[in-house]
Amino acid sequence: MQSKAIKKAKELLENEELVAIPTETVYGLAGNAYSTIAVKKIYELKGRPSNNPLIVHIKSRAYLDQVAQNIPEQAYKLAETFWPGPLTLVLEKQDRVPALVSAHKNTVGVRVPNHPLTLNLLEALDFPLVAPSANTSNHISPTCKAHVQASFGEKSPYVLDGGPCEAGLESTILGFKGSEILLYRHGVLSKELLSAFLGQEIVEHTHAPVPESPGMFLKHYAPHTPLYFYDDNAFKAAQEKNLRIGFLNFRAINPYINPENQRILSPLGSLEEAAKNLYRLLYELDALGLDLIFAEQLPPHGIGKAIHDKLYRASQK
Ligand code: TXA
Ligand code: MG
Repeated sequence: MQSKAIKKAKELLENEELVAIPTETVYGLAGNAYSTIAVKKIYELKGRPSNNPLIVHIKSRAYLDQVAQNIPEQAYKLAETFWPGPLTLVLEKQDRVPALVSAHKNTVGVRVPNHPLTLNLLEALDFPLVAPSANTSNHISPTCKAHVQASFGEKSPYVLDGGPCEAGLESTILGFKGSEILLYRHGVLSKELLSAFLGQEIVEHTHAPVPESPGMFLKHYAPHTPLYFYDDNAFKAAQEKNLRIGFLNFRAINPYINPENQRILSPLGSLEEAAKNLYRLLYELDALGLDLIFAEQLPPHGIGKAIHDKLYRASQK
């Protein structure tokens, strides 16, 4: 049975309007993937450069052949195990996917999102959805309805409210070149885990000079308040200047700073919990109007690598 909210989202999408949808990673700004009108609206509302392609969200693995072709065996294997889930596969595009979706490349990013509401919605539609994260370009990705609305203000689309996102970080993006498998973006599923699953070393390709996947751009996912990785000297210098300092800590409060200006990613020291809280807490710190934010470095294994990558891209260089 379709809920009222899903009916409303369906109607808007069928009329080439946009809807913000919940996924297990972050909220997406969704439109009909086969409608250039809807796709244009996404680029406009996000203020996204037109050379940055969008991910196509399909209802199930069985739909993959409709949007991609010449699919490598390894891609099927990954899809079988990790879909629905936080893994995007970059594959050769089918002609029916508009060039605007793929920024005129011959590839398309595809995934099956893992959220019951969005899966119900996709089931009710006869087209897939393109959905970049539902934030204005280069800002923090939203992990709840309120942050979608904060990002777009009066221009906010209808939000299908699915509660806070389970994982809180974007999907991992993989591509295929000959027999090589490339990692385009760190995400929820770690490179170690995927390499072990495939029995093949995945080649990191996240800092190419000409980004093939603009998630590679160095300035990305940033709060408005300048963010730095914690450093003793920089911290002392900021204190001497009487700057208003915020802290994004892994496990514990810094005793030298007003606790109101601090957030803790995971009191128990769980990297999964830290990922889930990362964008929400960055949003909260950003809203305090501080002079700068110091972020603690996290252990660089598993999903910690993706958290570090997001913080690095958000930080002042
Ligand atoms: O978790 C996610 O992937 C979320 C949710 C909403 O699904 N979506 C998301 O979309 O993060 P977005 O647009 O914020 O990031 C998509 C990334 C960009 O870095 C884009 O460059 C890359 O995917 N991408 C999309 N299509 C590509 C392609 N054909 N080749 C290379 N990179 C591609
Ligand atoms: Mg994004």
